Amino acid sequence: MKILVTGGLGFIGSNFIRHLLSRRKQASVVNLDALTYAGNPANLADLQDDPRYRWVKGDIADPKAVEAAMAGAEAVVHFAAETHVDRSILDASRFLRTNIVGSQVLFDAALRHEIGRFIHVSTDEVYGSVPKGFSKEGDRLEPNSPYAASKAASDLLARSYFVTHKLPVIVTRASNNFGPYQYPEKALPLMITNWMDGEPFPLYGDGLQVRDWLYVVDHARAIDLLIDKGQPGEIYNIGGTFHCNNRRIIEETRRLMGVSEGLVKPVADRPGHDRRYALDCRKLKALGFKHEYAFRQALAATVDWYRAHQSWWRPLKKRGGYKSYYSRQYGGRLAAKP
Ligand code: NAD
Ligand code: TYD
Repeated sequence: MKILVTGGLGFIGSNFIRHLLSRRKQASVVNLDALTYAGNPANLADLQDDPRYRWVKGDIADPKAVEAAMAGAEAVVHFAAETHVDRSILDASRFLRTNIVGSQVLFDAALRHEIGRFIHVSTDEVYGSVPKGFSKEGDRLEPNSPYAASKAASDLLARSYFVTHKLPVIVTRASNNFGPYQYPEKALPLMITNWMDGEPFPLYGDGLQVRDWLYVVDHARAIDLLIDKGQPGEIYNIGGTFHCNNRRIIEETRRLMGVSEGLVKPVADRPGHDRRYALDCRKLKALGFKHEYAFRQALAATVDWYRAHQSWWRPLKKRGGYKSYYSRQYGGRLAAKP
């Protein structure tokens, strides 16, 4: 099976390609990735001599680049996106172009190429903040950040291409991923790498925001299963194994790394910060999906990975500064207590 993967030089896409090619010996992958700040060829350096893998540099919003990359593909797995909520607060324009227009360009090309299976990778953030209970796939969308709104728009576009054009598209909505190769602006890698340097982690607001933590390899396994077993036109939630607030994640990581309590710095809250995400994953589990990685074991493996791969993340942090992107932009607010 020849698969077009978009955004495969990013965090989840690179983990997915590695998983897919190790599991499906007959598969080949063309990886269409524009190499934005979040993309990194080093994420798949181990595959550079594998004849089943090829990276094509190109923008998903460019119809010509998409047309060439999709030639001969039987399936598409679409990860490429602008993904960081804090950046979308500061400037939403790239989010709309890549996440909405880019998805539309891919959907149109997929119709022309008669793609048999299109996995549109989305997020639990489209449901907005859920004070209690668990979001089901049919729940209304109430995105609160420009990032989440751009993903919700592309989810609705996917639905319309299924209804109107019979595009065999499946939408997946995953919770917060963690694991190797995650860009160190997201909470967990920022925390781990800051602490390795004795720097504080900037905690937004009261730190009682709840997230559902999913190990990236389990996410890759779920998508792999949906290529075979997912139903076109359907949406599948992909949740994690550890549902907790940010203070608890800090505690878990702090204990694992042997770091003092002082290395957390309360800062002003993120505007529009969602209090709680929670997914009902019974639909995915009914297809036979089981998580393979327990949270603590996966967190320990992730910390070990960042300890062993300093040559991977140090240049990225040097380029972007060690503080979170949001704190860096709002330097004056960094010291503000919630
Ligand atoms: P990432 O930011 O690590 O990587 C994004 C990749 O897309 C990069 O390699 C980048 O170069 C590429 N890209 C960006 N714009 C592009 C464009 N216009 N054309 C081609 N390539 C482009 O992202 P990630 O965290 O791996 O997320 C991948 C997908 O999973 C996204 O669609 C995201 O919304 C979704 N998702 C992420 C999480 C999470 O916790 N990270 C959770 C649920 C869903
Ligand atoms: P993040 O990794 O940005 O994912 P998302 O906002 O998409 O869930 O953040 C995870 C949680 O950690 C979220 O509640 C925001 C919080 N956070 C901080 O407290 N400080 C930080 O520097 C960052 C980046 C995130």
